[in-house]
Parts: sequence; structure tokens; C-alpha cells
Amino acid sequence: MRSRTFVMLKPDTVQRGLIGAIITRFEHAGLKIVGMKTVRMSPELSRKHYIEHVAKPFYKGLEHFITDGPVVAIAIEGINAVEIVRKLIGDTEPKKALPGTIRGDFSHHSVEYSNSRDMAVKNLIHASGNEQDAKRELVLWFSPTELHEYETVHERHVF
Ligand code: PPS
Repeated sequence: MRSRTFVMLKPDTVQRGLIGAIITRFEHAGLKIVGMKTVRMSPELSRKHYIEHVAKPFYKGLEHFITDGPVVAIAIEGINAVEIVRKLIGDTEPKKALPGTIRGDFSHHSVEYSNSRDMAVKNLIHASGNEQDAKRELVLWFSPTELHEYETVHERHVF
């Protein structure tokens, strides 16, 4: 049940100064950050990361958005981490994301608005959709030496 997932804080999070506010959500839930770095994505890395979306009509706008500035790549560990992190971030479309979720509290874009302007949905954050994606994305973004093991207070008092 203990697993790792991949999270990326997109350029809108970095440019809006929301890195700390968002990371705090994960820390407060007792999740453990085991890797973190700032990366300027290349078009090549974008195509690898979003491999299943490259052929879709919105991909061009997505690549433009995601390579527009640095992102923060994070490896997160916890019990059912993939599922829990997806729950904390909320629906992919900010318009639908519920209050209390990261996207619901900090963004409000709709897919309709984005598509009418040929731009990506500004939804602040990406998190792996399932265990298989998490494994693939963690290997794509982190070398083994960039991932760390340590004991948190939560491991002593919560787990
Ligand atoms: S899911 O469940 O997050 O995988 O949803 P899915 O719809 O399959 O993912 C689509 C990813 O592309 C990003 N994106 C857009 N989707 C639809 N329409 C537009 N215009 C669009 N622009 C960007 C969307 O945010 C998903 O990426 P992530 O990184 O997971 O948010």
C-alpha cells in the first residue's frame, strides 16, 4: 500500500508564487516528499511526459504552456499516494474542481475557455493518474540518487 507518485507544479504555480502553499497541502496530509527539483521543460521532455496526449488537438497549447517557465518536480511517498494525491488536487478542469482541493481553491479556468483561445487549461499541477503512470513518470523525471529515504515525524506517530 505504501507507494510513490509523481507531482509537477506547472509554470502557473511557480509564476503565481504558490509553490509553498501547494506543497504545504501535501505535507499537512502526512505525505512525504522524497525528491524535489526545479526543471525547465524542453519540448522533448514535454512530449515524453505527455506521450498519450501528443496527438490530441490541445497538445500544442499544452506544450507552449508547460515549457513557458520552470516547473517543480516532486516525488511523494505515502499510503496509497497516487490515489490520495489525485484526491487532494481535484478535478483536471478547475471549473469542476471542488472547494477544498488544490485546483478548486487556487484556480478557476474552464476547458471551454482554454479551447476557445487555443491555450492550455491553467490547472496549476499534474499528478500521476495511476500506479503504472507513476512508475513511468518517476523514472522519466528522477535518477535513483535524486530520491531519498528518511524518517519523518509521521512515520513515528501516524503510520
Ligand atoms: S487526466 O485524468 O488528468 O489524465 O485527464 P486527461 O483529460 O486525460 O488529461 C489531459 C491532460 O492535458 C491537460 N490539458 C488539457 N486537457 C484537455 N483540454 C485542454 N485544453 C487541455 N490543456 C491542457 C490536462 O491538464 C491534463 O494534464 P495534467 O498535467 O494531468 O493536468
